[in-house]
Amino acid sequence: MALANRSLVTIDDLSNGEMEALFSLSDEMSDVMDKQFGLCQGKIMASLFFEPSTRTRLSFETAMHRLGGSVITAADVGATSLAKGESIADMARVVGSYVDIIVIRHPWEGAAKVVADYAGVPVINAGDGGHQHPTQTLCDLYTIKKEKKTLKGLKIALWGDLKYGRTIHSLIFALAKFGANILFYPTPSLEVPEHVLKKLTTEYGGGLERYEALAPTAKEGLFPLDAIYLTPSSPHQLAMMPDIDIQVKLKAGVDALYVTRPQKERFTAAEKKQELKEKYPVVDKKLLKSKEFRKTLVMHPLPRVDELAYELDADPRSRYFEQAARGVPVRMALISLLLGAKEITLAQKEALPSTDYPRYQRDSGIRCPNPRCVSVQETETKYLKPEFKIVNRKPLTLRCTYCEHGFEPKYVASADWHEGRTASKKYHSAESHWARKIRTENLIVFNSTDEAEGQGFKPSRYAKVRRKRSKAKTSEPK
Ligand code: NCD
Repeated sequence: MALANRSLVTIDDLSNGEMEALFSLSDEMSDVMDKQFGLCQGKIMASLFFEPSTRTRLSFETAMHRLGGSVITAADVGATSLAKGESIADMARVVGSYVDIIVIRHPWEGAAKVVADYAGVPVINAGDGGHQHPTQTLCDLYTIKKEKKTLKGLKIALWGDLKYGRTIHSLIFALAKFGANILFYPTPSLEVPEHVLKKLTTEYGGGLERYEALAPTAKEGLFPLDAIYLTPSSPHQLAMMPDIDIQVKLKAGVDALYVTRPQKERFTAAEKKQELKEKYPVVDKKLLKSKEFRKTLVMHPLPRVDELAYELDADPRSRYFEQAARGVPVRMALISLLLGAKEITLAQKEALPSTDYPRYQRDSGIRCPNPRCVSVQETETKYLKPEFKIVNRKPLTLRCTYCEHGFEPKYVASADWHEGRTASKKYHSAESHWARKIRTENLIVFNSTDEAEGQGFKPSRYAKVRRKRSKAKTSEPK
């Protein structure tokens, strides 16, 4: 199986077997780090970091130097033509014509996908806004595997800002892929986004149980958490798992506690205010005295601010500096695979999960509702067509192919039913029975009545009812 010429934009771009093989290659690299000089000699890597970085950028650059390649770098949007209003696609095309591989960090969610679509060379996502950070996940998984030998069945607790932490989002999907259980300990109001949880439970199986819903007896003596994701490879499916079993499982201890800092740079004004009021929880010796954490690996993607006490640096459970150090061999392995300097052999043939959803793409109309998505930025809308996956028909749910935000459009129409007949150009409530009759290829969706009427559609009887209802509620955007 060759990884040559492929890109790593989200953690879904690698199969479990490919990740396992990459970890073996990382072992090889770390054993003889200073003897890999011949592997990528003559190759050039562009390291484009348009957000602050220490570890990721320097470990990528170190990795390329250790492989014998060279590096060109741009670490400030202000010093590039992006500041003059150049699009990401144009930049990608040009940089792709200079180098053999591109590593990009950018504040817009989905930006790495655009670079990968246009560069013509392998692209590695080193963090795109609050979306994903797949190479950090590789370092995280590699560290857990080194210590615990396997990921299957482990209990990994995620702590802190689970809303904006891109390392968290990639890690959640990877843990689920490898059959680990996940315990969510978010800072209040910084919980995992709903679209991430939805993808987790619909695409990776397993179940999510909210702490609130557990019986009081099950909660007794339990360190409070927000929710627990139980992997489908557990002996029981969650739906059938009695609360008492969950309690027994949790009491048996947590294998790793993954701490994250508050991603203040992404907070909304309201979240900034809230942050001043509420203290971000700190992981320290006192907290780790709780019996669940007796043998827990303490992890953190770093940088830390105040959420992880310095007193833990000497604690035998701490692993965060090892996690960071492993960035070099893991990234050496990845670069050499994507450049075709190394090949991997998979132990066994893998059946890849089939999540080939129908696509939704129209020239006009709906845009991704996430204001941080690359597809809605002024410089990018000139050439990027919004594109969505139809991940569910009931309720109708679309997922942006760039930032992966999911949403449920409120109104629909059919391109077929009104063809040439303007009088019958009607739009319907997405919940009506009409909506379900529309074939996927004919589907047109709208988020508001204004959007539908702006395109010349008139409300059907059902849409009128919905509009009345939502006017009564007054909360819904028109
Ligand atoms: C993380 C990042 O940039 O997302 N850092 C890293 O790459 N190691 C985590 C963070 O900034 O909090």
